[in-house]
Amino acid sequence: MSDQVRDSRDLRILVLHGPNLNLLGRREPGIYGAGTLADVDAELALAAKELDVEIECFQSNHEGELIDRIQQAMGRAAGIVINPAGLTHTSVSLRDALLATELPVVEVHLSNIHAREDFRRASMISDIALGVITGLGARGYRYGFEGLVGYLRG
Ligand code: DQA
Repeated sequence: MSDQVRDSRDLRILVLHGPNLNLLGRREPGIYGAGTLADVDAELALAAKELDVEIECFQSNHEGELIDRIQQAMGRAAGIVINPAGLTHTSVSLRDALLATELPVVEVHLSNIHAREDFRRASMISDIALGVITGLGARGYRYGFEGLVGYLRG
């Protein structure tokens, strides 16, 4: 089946987690919560089943690996949910890769990046994103995922 004639059941969403998110549950739990990344991915897998879409979750501490996955999404995925973590505030390359895909992107942050240190307020991604969810904890991933699927299904 070609991309043009895909129906909504063929949607595949790529979920990307940036550096240090593998430490969720152990890393500053007062800010990021007690749940683990496996909990986040399991919750998203459930949501994907409910919404009848395919999901692929990937975490890396390496900018280049994240960029490789973004490039691989071209022609394969219908949209991207990403928590770029610390790279949010620094990575032109991540921004460029996301732009290259021409896919809708939802940016998610567990903490409210506008209510912390000044440097976290700036995002390289927000102005090219379909939407941004920040400060709602792990549930933000689900909201972002559902919002993206809703957008794609019109
Ligand atoms: C984060 C916020 C970033 O500023 C930080 O570097 C992270 C996690 C969040 O989910 O709240 O690693 O993206």
